[in-house]
Amino acid sequence: MIEGKKRAAQAALSEVRDGQILGIGTGSTVAIFIEMLAERIEKEGLKVLCVPTSYQSAYLAMEKGLRLTTLEEHPILDLAVDGADEVDNKLNLIKGGGAALTREKIVDSAAKRFIVIADEGKLVERLGVKTPVPVEVIPMAWRTVANSVRILGGNPRLRDGGDRKDGPLVTDNGNFILDIKFDEINDPRALEFELKRIPGVVEVGLFVNLANAAYIGSEKGVKKIERKM
Ligand code: A5P
Repeated sequence: MIEGKKRAAQAALSEVRDGQILGIGTGSTVAIFIEMLAERIEKEGLKVLCVPTSYQSAYLAMEKGLRLTTLEEHPILDLAVDGADEVDNKLNLIKGGGAALTREKIVDSAAKRFIVIADEGKLVERLGVKTPVPVEVIPMAWRTVANSVRILGGNPRLRDGGDRKDGPLVTDNGNFILDIKFDEINDPRALEFELKRIPGVVEVGLFVNLANAAYIGSEKGVKKIERKM
């Protein structure tokens, strides 16, 4: 799996050019990309600026000496590189396993080109079969959102903070995450809109028609999927 992530990250790195403003996603695959990018900058003296999508990516990038910027300064990015929890063959995605979906969607959408990097385990025939759809919600609304989600046929679960935090997980934006399992997702775009219009929903972890390409890495090599326009 790690080899697949490395190959995907390496392939995305080959698209980076001097002078670019980059969007930097979140997760373990992006962490590898950040390390590789830092090495390339060191070797080739590239001048790139990065907009991170989480504290995790921002702190790792800073530690590795990358120069950070913001969308306020640079609202149009040349290239965004981000991971995914599921990728279908139309390059629709489920994201938010690391609870960074809102900033990821903002940053990935601001890029002229958005590339997904993932190992082959993320490739699915149909979105949602394995992974619930993460939805970021305003804390006071989580129960009302959960009720509305059930009417849409979803099974919502409030994400727990895990070993190091009692109670619900709190995102970088101070919100909660509902992980919503659907039996099947036939129309990801329609579901994204249905969920997005529930009062209290901040963002939905379905990324439809956003990614331009994906590098899917495995032990054997890397496969490029380019979205047909
Ligand atoms: C973060 O919230 C997610 O969208 C990540 O991009 C996704 O979980 C991929 O993470 P890995 O690269 O660790 O699998």
